[in-house]
Amino acid sequence: MLYSSITKKGGRLTLTLFLLGSTFLFGQYAGSEACKACHAQQWDGQAKSGHAKALSRNATTWNFGAGIQAITPVSQLDDQFYLEHGQSDFKGVKAKTPGHVNTDGVKYRITDPGSQIMKCFQCHSTGPLTLTADFAIQPTELGVRCESCHGPGAEHIERGGAKTAIFNPGQLNGSAMNDYCGSCHRKPGEDTDWREAWNVRHQPIYLNQSKCFQKSEGALTCISCHKPHEALARSGYDAVCSGCHAKPAHKAVAVAGKTCVGCHMPVVKPQPNLGFTNHWIGIYRKGPLRP
Ligand code: HEC
Ligand code: HEC
Ligand code: HEC
Ligand code: HEC
Ligand code: HEC
Ligand code: HEC
Ligand code: HEC
Repeated sequence: MLYSSITKKGGRLTLTLFLLGSTFLFGQYAGSEACKACHAQQWDGQAKSGHAKALSRNATTWNFGAGIQAITPVSQLDDQFYLEHGQSDFKGVKAKTPGHVNTDGVKYRITDPGSQIMKCFQCHSTGPLTLTADFAIQPTELGVRCESCHGPGAEHIERGGAKTAIFNPGQLNGSAMNDYCGSCHRKPGEDTDWREAWNVRHQPIYLNQSKCFQKSEGALTCISCHKPHEALARSGYDAVCSGCHAKPAHKAVAVAGKTCVGCHMPVVKPQPNLGFTNHWIGIYRKGPLRP
């Protein structure tokens, strides 16, 4: 849930958004460039990830999405409204933006309670958002960078890399990691319509349904399969399955030459140009939506 506060500082409007329940309400942001010198390995990999590229700017247009699946342009109309464009780019193919009824675009009022447009920027950028005098939204840093996940890092740097001044999510168990990544990828607990193909992109909610997840006492987390500082691996997932399932019992199917995830984590296509991996690991006998 979002809490927003508008304050006036030296004649300038400042609007700060906080993600309620987030660990990161206080502290100074340093920007990812400041992390590079001491954490070059994490930095180099992270810069190439979909996270880092989740928001970019091209003159007056904001581009949401890294382009791995899609890019949706957004622009400011005036001091009241932003427009989410009605056409998006699906890897070079232009088509109607998901959720839109036509290609005219959808207008969002900047100051609406729970402002939808501020939420777009919140999940696709790092650090607090501010508003200029003419109500232009200004992210602290574009994309999902270091301090989105580790919290503000200025104090950590001032104190020469003090561990106590930075959050390391490495020790989180499966449920805590679901909530943590779920602050943007959506948290389990929401009522979900399992027949709706669009919901499959909410990975924490789906993983939470798997027997693998429920019966492994927190050992299976998002980072069992995804390196947090790298782009999607595109392979190597089956080795993770084999770590817990040395000899799965297959009677009804021939599995030779096929991947585990191809059958047990099928891809769902809510529309022709988009595909999401079903994170409810299971036995799919009736199509890819649910086991
Ligand atoms: C001046 C060098 C320096 C800079 C700059 C720096 N760090 Fe560190 N960082 C360290 C050192 C040294 C450690 C290891 C501490 C240890 O192992 O005792 C560390 C550890 C960490 C850890 C692991 C903490 C833990 O509990 O294990 C994280 C996460 C981290 N840094 C994130 C960041 C981020 C994000 C930035 C940029 C905002 C950053 N660091 C900038 C030196 C730095
Ligand atoms: C601040 C919001 C935020 C948080 C926190 C977050 N993500 Fe993401 N994540 C995004 C956005 C936005 C994208 C979409 C990038 C794009 O357009 O492809 C994304 C994309 C991804 C991708 C696809 C990346 C790629 O390179 O193609 C993976 C995998 C992923 N996230 C895993 C995680 C995991 C695991 C965590 C927790 C450790 C996490 N995310 C936390 C916002 C977030
Ligand atoms: C609650 C956090 C959140 C909000 C709010 C949000 N996004 Fe995202 N967005 C994500 C995450 C997470 C992904 C990665 C989804 C995936 O690939 O599974 C993503 C992916 C995308 C993508 C890439 C296509 C895709 O589905 O992977 C586009 C484009 C996008 N978002 C645009 C927007 C726009 C425009 C808004 C506001 C109208 C918005 N987002 C609001 C978290 C958010
Ligand atoms: C999507 C969330 C996310 C983002 C963005 C992110 N990290 Fe991390 N980081 C993690 C997680 C999760 C771990 C724990 C990894 C583990 O224990 O295997 C981690 C661990 C670390 C560590 C401890 C050593 C290690 O590699 O396990 C350092 C240092 C670190 N991150 C630095 C950075 C820096 C620098 C950036 C920006 C370039 C960054 N992180 C961006 C999620 C993130
Ligand atoms: C951390 C350990 C762990 C990992 C990793 C893991 N699983 Fe599981 N899996 C389990 C446990 C525990 C069960 C429940 C077994 C039981 O009910 O006795 C299970 C159950 C299953 C089932 C039966 C599901 C059902 O609904 O009946 C399938 C299929 C499965 N796993 C496939 C996979 C695949 C494919 C992967 C890799 C993508 C994987 N698992 C990764 C621990 C794991
Ligand atoms: C058992 C392994 C496994 C676990 C655990 C796992 N993923 Fe994935 N994830 C995959 C596979 C396989 C893909 C397909 C990726 C590819 O093509 O490289 C994927 C793809 C993704 C994508 C890209 C969009 C999509 O849906 O295809 C995102 C985002 C993502 N995972 C986020 C998460 C988050 C967040 C978690 C924790 C809730 C998580 N994953 C846990 C195996 C896993
Ligand atoms: C061609 C699709 C397919 C592939 C590939 C596949 N499975 Fe399965 N799996 C199934 C089906 C269907 C079942 C239901 C049981 C049967 O075959 O009789 C099943 C059952 C299972 C079970 C539950 C039975 C048990 O042993 O507890 C597990 C665990 C499992 N698979 C894991 C895996 C792993 C790990 C891999 C990769 C090494 C894999 N599967 C590859 C389709 C597949």
